[in-house]
Amino acid sequence: MIVDFGTLSEGRKYKTMSNTIFPRPVAWISSEDEGVVNLAPFSYFTPLSSEPPLVVVSIAHKENGEHKDTFANILRHKRCTINLAHDGLIEALKHSAEELPHEVSETEHFGIETRRILDGYPPMVADAKCALFCRLVKTLDIGSDYEPLLLEIEQMYIDDERIDPKGHIHLENIGRVGMEFLVDAARVK
Ligand SMILES: Cc1cc2nc3c(=O)[nH]c(=O)nc-3n(C[C@H](O)[C@H](O)[C@H](O)COP(=O)(O)O)c2cc1C
Repeated sequence: MIVDFGTLSEGRKYKTMSNTIFPRPVAWISSEDEGVVNLAPFSYFTPLSSEPPLVVVSIAHKENGEHKDTFANILRHKRCTINLAHDGLIEALKHSAEELPHEVSETEHFGIETRRILDGYPPMVADAKCALFCRLVKTLDIGSDYEPLLLEIEQMYIDDERIDPKGHIHLENIGRVGMEFLVDAARVK
């Protein structure tokens, strides 16, 4: 069948895209404002270029039209930390998608341990095997409820145990397929 996007509702477009364009990596973003660490997942996330090292994360407005906390914090402080999650972190990641008041930290509320390993950036999720420490380059006005953020990777944490003697990196990131998660994706050459 041919799906004519011109005839679909917003929800149907989301369902169709998120069930076909997969697996999507999940940016589990730590951001910070006035000492409160915010944590939330975003799967409209993709690398754009490696020179400069850019990624894009597309964040929708809240139903009341306000910015989500992650967006507001990054806009204000220009820095965020993108954690890459493995399957042992799925429950914590799901919890952190809950919309809590701005002054309530998801990491404290849900007991998700974090550690601050670089000055000037929000702390990373303690058990993540990889984290991208990013600077906001710009926001993109696409005339929509979604406002993509262009982010430059300035530093990256990789768990030493995930780097083999040849320098290859081995992560078991989860992916997103529709509303489900993809784990243990097989690698084939
Ligand atoms: C796996 C997953 C992926 C998500 N991806 C996105 C996304 O790409 N863009 C978005 O705006 N919201 C996305 N959400 C919803 C946000 O995580 C949710 O709105 C969250 O409350 C935002 O938190 P904040 O207000 O603390 O930033 C996703 C949720 C889940 C569980």
